[in-house]
Amino acid sequence: MKADQPIGIFDSGIGGLTAANAILQHLPQENLIYFGDSLHFPYGEKTEESIRAYSIQISDFLLSAGCKSIVIACNSASASAFEAVKAHVGNRALVVDVITPTVYYIEKHLHDLKTVGVIGTRRTIESKAYELGLKAANPELQIKAMATPLLAPMIEEGFVADEVSRIVTKKYLNHPQLQHLDALILACTHYPLIKGDIEAYYNYQVDVLDTPTVIAEYIKDKLGAKGLLSTTPQPEHHFYVSKMTDTFQHTSQLFFSQPFQLQEHNIFED
Ligand code: DGL
Repeated sequence: MKADQPIGIFDSGIGGLTAANAILQHLPQENLIYFGDSLHFPYGEKTEESIRAYSIQISDFLLSAGCKSIVIACNSASASAFEAVKAHVGNRALVVDVITPTVYYIEKHLHDLKTVGVIGTRRTIESKAYELGLKAANPELQIKAMATPLLAPMIEEGFVADEVSRIVTKKYLNHPQLQHLDALILACTHYPLIKGDIEAYYNYQVDVLDTPTVIAEYIKDKLGAKGLLSTTPQPEHHFYVSKMTDTFQHTSQLFFSQPFQLQEHNIFED
């Protein structure tokens, strides 16, 4: 592995761009290759076996593009395929998921928490990945997890910080399971786009974790420890989706602070 090789980032769609955006803000000299598997979106409703198979195919694509690191910027894929991707990739690239950094961050920095909410896809919540990780670190912690399956498709369709997103979000957050929280984990890489609505719903009394930043800082530490931080003066980025839709280019720009062009590339074709 060499420092100037790109970081590969993948998600089931365009949600992982929230992580890609934070990674570039923390590591502006990195080359990025982003892959959104919009053809198979949403992963949150797929079986573990399917998610593992897609994740391994995408990892092969990112390895063939010369990536030094593969970031699984999807909680559903992190919950279902992290171990399988690590085993498959071996020492060819550094594999990072998005659940470990958040669990690690809470363990290290948030000692006074008593009750933590977790919202994500069905796959992520059913896996109990956050619950198990957080409880292992602090058995006293109360975890209130709930699946909010409509949120990712709503955001993927561009309903963000508008009337529709506020009504749907409020409907979920009104559930008794999501009351009386000290902090809330947005366990889906799409949700940072509606973080403002969520914070406002709780009257700014709940610490809604900034997961893209937590993930970016974790990757910076991991790459730094391996001497793999890029110093490329003019880095290049490529953004692929396995299936382009009419609204994608416009919607995906909401996720990313620099102008960029999405390209369709169906790696599953042959
Ligand atoms: N971005 C995915 C995640 O973090 C959610 C969307 C999906 O269901 O594929 O879980």
